[in-house]
Amino acid sequence: MTETVLLVGGGGREHAIARSLAGDCDLYACASNRNPGIRRLAEGTAVIDETAVEEIVDYATEVEATLAVIGPESALEAGVADALDDAGVYAFGPREAEARIETDKAYQRRFMRDNDVPGCPAFETFEDMEAACDYIDSFDGDLAVKPAGLTGGKGVRVIGDQVTPEEAKAYLRDADYDRVVLEERLVGEEFTVQAFVADGDVRVTPAVQDHKRAYEGDEGPNTGGMGSYSDASLDLPFMAEGDYAAAVEIIQAVVDALPEYKGVLYGQFMLTVDGPKVVEFNARFGDPEAMNTLPVLRTPFIDVLTAARDGESLPDLNFEKQATVCKYAVPEGYPTDPVAGARIEVDEESVGNALLFYASVDERDDGIYTTTSRSFAVVGLGNTITKAEGIADGALAAAGEGLRVRHDIGKRELLRERIDHMNELRTS
Ligand code: AMP
Ligand code: GLY
Repeated sequence: MTETVLLVGGGGREHAIARSLAGDCDLYACASNRNPGIRRLAEGTAVIDETAVEEIVDYATEVEATLAVIGPESALEAGVADALDDAGVYAFGPREAEARIETDKAYQRRFMRDNDVPGCPAFETFEDMEAACDYIDSFDGDLAVKPAGLTGGKGVRVIGDQVTPEEAKAYLRDADYDRVVLEERLVGEEFTVQAFVADGDVRVTPAVQDHKRAYEGDEGPNTGGMGSYSDASLDLPFMAEGDYAAAVEIIQAVVDALPEYKGVLYGQFMLTVDGPKVVEFNARFGDPEAMNTLPVLRTPFIDVLTAARDGESLPDLNFEKQATVCKYAVPEGYPTDPVAGARIEVDEESVGNALLFYASVDERDDGIYTTTSRSFAVVGLGNTITKAEGIADGALAAAGEGLRVRHDIGKRELLRERIDHMNELRTS
């Protein structure tokens, strides 16, 4: 039987999901924007906000979806997975209760502590911002200040890295958050491991390193992610023997404590001198990380989805032994003051051997327009990260006026810095 899959979301991550599914099912998609890449792959698309639960269920019913894949966390938080499940359309994505592992950082830390999940930093949660400020004054060491709710990756302020203690306190007083988590600053190199999860089964994918900072050399404000790379093996060049396995153990511990969890579980880790510690969990694929992972997944993604729905053991995953480098083109001013509604040119011819994934753009009759988020990404594949980087960087020629990129992602010098950084920490 040919499955009919409804994809929720219209970013680069969802274009990558669409690409990995389109040949193996009848694909439909809905999102608040019109993503030109997804539109070309799908049998049908609809403009529906990712949090409009009833409209999404109606659309799923109309297209007779047999499965759904949910891209963004906003949909999970709104209960889209619950509503689709309840309507008889199996959603590959956790229900609202399990998605709290991402959508509520205070819950997430308490969950780790209560279930003895390894890798949890010391933390306190606050509803009173003055009490949080007092804690900053009294804490011996640097803290990370995190709003408990979703902020698109842009709400965290790390003392000693991005801000001074005084700036962190001013941020807490000005920003008007209901609840915040203050936790020990973790020092090391960050990496991500994403896993497919259903019925307690966990199938892991290669580690990826994202680049959150807006500008080259890791300067500027945090973004949703400017680009990312993965290696031809499961781990990354700065990781040592056992680091990847330790991260997988942490993911397994989460799933053991959340047996109902289904969908992608994304672990964001800080590789410290004491091994991987948890920065956060996400209840979905990463964006950009999905664009590193899905293009090298040889196992049909549809087989993972049907096994999950049918209560069968998830298939073992096969990956092409290829490194990947992903680089985003974003609107001028992103993330603080993005120029939305600008018409952009994307020269598809100049992408060459790279893959092109459209992201948060809107396709109208007369062209492609920016939104407040990232516009498109290119992904290079190669035997080495350096080869993949060359392909991705060349493909950035596709970006016309009004878009900004980070050329340094995946370059030899930056990889060297990451390795040296870990070596310094390990020997100091
Ligand atoms: P999050 O939204 O939790 O992913 O945080 C965004 C970014 O803030 C992370 O990718 C890290 O770079 C940084 N961050 C978050 N928590 C910590 C921490 N405890 N120590 C150091 N950096 C952190
Ligand atoms: N790239 C980080 C995220 O998707 O949350």
